[in-house]
Amino acid sequence: MSLITWGPQLSVGINSIDEQHKKLVNMINALNDALAAGEGKEMLGKIFNGLAAYTTKHFQFEEDLFAKYNYPETAAHKKEHADLLKQVGDLKAKMDAGNFMISMELMAFLKSWLTNHIQGTDKKYVAFLTSEGVS
Ligand SMILES: [Fe+2]
Ligand SMILES: [Fe+2]
Repeated sequence: MSLITWGPQLSVGINSIDEQHKKLVNMINALNDALAAGEGKEMLGKIFNGLAAYTTKHFQFEEDLFAKYNYPETAAHKKEHADLLKQVGDLKAKMDAGNFMISMELMAFLKSWLTNHIQGTDKKYVAFLTSEGVS
């Protein structure tokens, strides 16, 4: 069973963004499956790095929209993104140094971070961006 199941509760109703969120969900699920299958740290690290890179790209996509339309809650939203990327960067550094490994606790953290962020923080921009014609 997948760690995160995509459903209407995760949709923000803006196609481009839903597609990116689905990809993030799939990548987290793939990492969880690899962990459960007992994959080694090289494979897990590779999937984690891919997830980190795509997360960075997705955050940039949202932040570019905020800048383009002058979204009033940009600062608080960007801070949430930056805080997560900082944590991910720290984990990557620890992994590279051999001091940290992907775990079920990390997977639970990623799941709750992503679902809470989409359902709370991301959903806040929907009415604003939709009113600016973003779809
Ligand atoms: Fe976001
Ligand atoms: Fe998002």
